[in-house]
Amino acid sequence: MLDRSRLPTHLGIIMDGNGRWAQQRGRPRVAGHRAGARAVRRVVRECRRLGISYLTLYAFSAQNWGRPRQEVEGLMNLLGEFIAREWQEIMRRDIRVIQLGEQRKVPAFVRQRLQALIKTSRHNRSMTLALALSYGAREEIVRAARRLARRIASGSLAPGAIDEASLSRLLYTTNLPDPDLIIRTGGEKRLSNFLLWQSAYSELIFSRKLWPDFDESDLQRALREFQRRRRRFGLTDEQRQEKP
Ligand code: FPP
Repeated sequence: MLDRSRLPTHLGIIMDGNGRWAQQRGRPRVAGHRAGARAVRRVVRECRRLGISYLTLYAFSAQNWGRPRQEVEGLMNLLGEFIAREWQEIMRRDIRVIQLGEQRKVPAFVRQRLQALIKTSRHNRSMTLALALSYGAREEIVRAARRLARRIASGSLAPGAIDEASLSRLLYTTNLPDPDLIIRTGGEKRLSNFLLWQSAYSELIFSRKLWPDFDESDLQRALREFQRRRRRFGLTDEQRQEKP
């Protein structure tokens, strides 16, 4: 049974396997992404229903710009369609949307729609849906380092004042708790430049299911596995029991 009082506060998902799903059906990769967008809808709804407060989806990595032009265009079109199609439901379900990643690289038609949705949904409170789009964790850390360096160069920050909190505040995830759980579908066991700083103590669950096939029961299975894990954050079990 799923314990609704012990859900991850922040769940991250690496949605992998769209390409293989399409390939297995002799269809273009974009057809896999389209089916992936349907899985996004299912999983967002289920997370919202269960009461997960933060959901981050790895929709498009900084490295994905290097994919064939047709696939990149297909994905951008899908994202644009997704925003338009889901807008009303996102508002009705009181979901706040944010973007993690480099906004200026995203084509204007997606960027403008997304910015409008981010603005319109900014006071929604039931769940935060973070779209990691044109996102790379190393790029994110470099960007934060550059901002810290600028403050040091201008004399407004002493090097000794840099700590985890000051760096964290300059990441795209400012004000988001670290992910408690990261699920990766598609069978590969790696993080692929996703939330590297924030995942220091995240539980990782790998599912062999290809993303378009991932459904509510797969999500619940992963959440049950998460609830069986013992999180120690570098301490001993005994210490964790004293200070839950
Ligand atoms: C990885 O599968 C998936 C992506 C690069 C894109 C994820 C995008 C979606 C699920 C659709 C749109 C998103 C939203 C938020 C509406 P892959 O292509 O690397 O699969 P493969 O490893 O089988 O080739």
